[in-house]
Amino acid sequence: MGRDKVFVTRELPPASLDRLAKHCEVEVWHEFLPPDYDVILDKIGGLAGLLCLLTDRIDAPLMDAAPQIKVISNLAVGYDNIDIPAASQRGIPIGNTPGVLNETTADFAFALLMATARRIPEARQYIQDGKWLTWHPTVLSGQDVFGATLGIIGCGRIGAAVMRRAQGFNMRILVSSLESADEIRQLGGEKVSLDDLLGQSDFVSLHVPLTDETHHLIGERELKQMKPTAILINTARGSVLDPQALYAALRDGEILAAGLDVTEPEPIPLDDPLLTLDNCLVVPHIASASVATRAKMAEMAVDNVIAGLQGQPLPTCVNPEIYQRR
Ligand code: DGY
Repeated sequence: MGRDKVFVTRELPPASLDRLAKHCEVEVWHEFLPPDYDVILDKIGGLAGLLCLLTDRIDAPLMDAAPQIKVISNLAVGYDNIDIPAASQRGIPIGNTPGVLNETTADFAFALLMATARRIPEARQYIQDGKWLTWHPTVLSGQDVFGATLGIIGCGRIGAAVMRRAQGFNMRILVSSLESADEIRQLGGEKVSLDDLLGQSDFVSLHVPLTDETHHLIGERELKQMKPTAILINTARGSVLDPQALYAALRDGEILAAGLDVTEPEPIPLDDPLLTLDNCLVVPHIASASVATRAKMAEMAVDNVIAGLQGQPLPTCVNPEIYQRR
């Protein structure tokens, strides 16, 4: 019997790929852009494992074309690119990379918060435009972070890590999430309704996964409830926010600014109106992009593939219920 075949849909750190190659025959997609859906469809019939990225759509037809697949491992904590119920129905374990990126992502959410509050990208542009002619009492004045009220929507691992940072800035922390009021109090926050959070917060930071329930969770109605001085930060998934409603709110001064690591769609088209606004800072989905964290994510994704090939439970499995049924 030949060795198990695994397709890795993008270049990973060599140490992780070398380790994987000790366990199976590895094919890596070396292009900068992701493989087309049809490329994966074409290969998957012969695969025992697939190590994919959040840019790869993994759906039921793909799974049906993969009779020998033992594991699908996503190099991300989020897994909205994969049809999990379809995988569970077919008994396919799905791995993700939780935990290792919490602090790095929380650092970045705070970086976006600080950058938008203190208008750092605008200030850089101001110099480049030759406008720095003198010190001026009002030019580029922003919002104070210290002592302000922060609203956290979704208080999982990353939301809690953002809260720890906010405590260092003496912020009042309001939380809307599924956790109990007690759990949130222990983390230093106060559980409130979404409406109260939106109405009272100076900063709102999104930390929910993308699901049918959270799709466009923040739209026109929600944005209208926010303060005109409020700043919205999204490091979760682009589709948690309605981009058209956000554009209108930023344009019309219903909220002050937004910092977006994630967009709908990704990549954001260059003619997207959000990119015309000085009060909207958009960066290309890099919140977890520290060298160390991305290396750890690759190691976890490889651990999941190896366990799956060996018929072991994945160390970090999104659908562990499949093991109960075996
Ligand atoms: C994830 O892991 O889901 C992030 O969005 C990628 O860093």
